Amino acid sequence: MEAPSPRRIILVVEDNAEMRRSVASILELENYVVVQAENGQAALAILQRLTPDLILSDINMPRMSGIELYEALRQNPRWVVIPVIFLTAIDAPDEVRRGRLLGVEDYLTKPIDNADLLAVVNARLLRVAEVNIAQIGRAYLETVNVLANTIEGRDAYTHGHVERVATYARCLAEALGWAPEHLRVLEFGARLHDIGKIIVPDHILNKPDALTSAEWAAMRQHPVAGARILRAISHLQGAVPYVLYHHERWDGSGYPHSLRGKDIPIEGRLLAIADVYDALTTARPYRPARPPYEVLQYVQLNAGRQFDPHLAPVFLKAITSLGPRYLALPDAASQGTMPLSRQPSH
Ligand SMILES: [Fe+2]
Ligand SMILES: [Fe+2]
Repeated sequence: MEAPSPRRIILVVEDNAEMRRSVASILELENYVVVQAENGQAALAILQRLTPDLILSDINMPRMSGIELYEALRQNPRWVVIPVIFLTAIDAPDEVRRGRLLGVEDYLTKPIDNADLLAVVNARLLRVAEVNIAQIGRAYLETVNVLANTIEGRDAYTHGHVERVATYARCLAEALGWAPEHLRVLEFGARLHDIGKIIVPDHILNKPDALTSAEWAAMRQHPVAGARILRAISHLQGAVPYVLYHHERWDGSGYPHSLRGKDIPIEGRLLAIADVYDALTTARPYRPARPPYEVLQYVQLNAGRQFDPHLAPVFLKAITSLGPRYLALPDAASQGTMPLSRQPSH
């Protein structure tokens, strides 16, 4: 297995010089940068000038043992995150117990098997990388939510809109079998899709009556304005197609670019369905909420006009998986507010 790049630094702490060099050479062959120390104290001196990605340490050493070194690492916020693997003699159960009590993650038993050594080191570093990515991803999502909520806070009538649109969009994307990395970008895109509304004045955004054509023109600027905002944020580039194209329509009657059919990026075609579904199933000051089955009918009727005809049927099927609230058909006993044959007057 190849080591991840850029080259990782491993600090090997071991008083037996022969053992130390042998471990170092195995790791170097795997493209790791290895720094060596003969005891805990020497290791601490090295840590003053560099921070390794992982420490492999013997337990029994003169001057400062592996356990003492581990305790010192835990006192320093910069070092506490470094994973430590102990190298221990097979007949040292007490040492292992002491290490376990301190929360040491891994042990390798001497004599050390080369394949074991590499497997444990690689797995540990991979795990650290995964945790980092997850934490960064969560931090991004928090930032995105703050941005999205800023917009929603101004718009009195769309409370919870972005969160629900994200749910519907994810539901459709999962039904389409999208890969995890695309689903991750979708979370950002769905939450930010209306970020451009920041340029729309409050009196237009919160107007209870129908918009004038001038007001409508201002409102229609929001996809372009949103895309412009996101272009300045490198890690949110993937969200741009969601923001820019969510008001395009399959038949070319949408905005801002009046794109048609598959000229509209898939992100826009997908989000358009989720966005309209939520808009119509929630109340606006000028009209009540429509029941989900009726809106699903609307989606079906407009497949090939407003919506991508390939995505619409997948959405109809996928949305029902979210629970009875979203079911396409009214329950004959409890609903039936409107006959299925009647179209919504959107
Ligand atoms: Fe929008
Ligand atoms: Fe929206």
